[in-house]
Amino acid sequence: MIYILDTADLRAIRHCNEFYPLGGVTTNPSIIAKEKRDFWPLLTEIRSIIGPDKMLHVQTVATKAEDMVAEAKLLAERLGGEFYVKIPIGEEGLRATMMLKKEGIGVTMTAIFTPAQALMAAMAGASFVAPYLNRLDNILGDGCAVVAEIVSQLEKHKSDCKVLAASFKTAEQAHKCASYGCHSVTVTEGVLKALISHPMTDAAIAGFERDWIGLYGDKTISDF
Ligand code: E4P
Repeated sequence: MIYILDTADLRAIRHCNEFYPLGGVTTNPSIIAKEKRDFWPLLTEIRSIIGPDKMLHVQTVATKAEDMVAEAKLLAERLGGEFYVKIPIGEEGLRATMMLKKEGIGVTMTAIFTPAQALMAAMAGASFVAPYLNRLDNILGDGCAVVAEIVSQLEKHKSDCKVLAASFKTAEQAHKCASYGCHSVTVTEGVLKALISHPMTDAAIAGFERDWIGLYGDKTISDF
């Protein structure tokens, strides 16, 4: 299971990169616009925080395949390391994906809402498909069921394409995806924290502290 952080907030990236087994960072134009920073300094700082070995997914904004490919090459060259270009599903996007496959640049096909879209993206050579789970749940769909079907379809068709489920509001949505065999999820800092939080854990830790202090006061193990 790969946990990825879905933000361009440098503070959140620094924190989560240090405290969680993070596989990388995903962004999209809306996420980047939220930071109100210059594009290249922001992206190069993200790369320098996570280092070259973790995945960085950055989306194109062009609408024609040739321009998407040009943007992808520029991004891959300037950001280096484990880089994936995010391209929304569509005819131009599929064409760009097939062209980029030949160039050896990994594509994450994004804005996926159906298993049919995911399978087509995989056949075009996408390395990842990113279904938007919470946006489906918001319109009374079943995002987790869609993710589960995509996972099983890719397995049935023996595709190397991996599922990078996206658009989460809750830890339950994210963990359900993991149980369905989804390869990776990209989540906010809040969802990442919620994935490890439990009131019983807090109570257990408080009990350990209380009992220790009751006997040894503020001494720690290294004081003995
Ligand atoms: C992935 O990177 C997607 O762009 C992102 O998770 C979408 O999330 P949202 O539905 O919360 O905007």
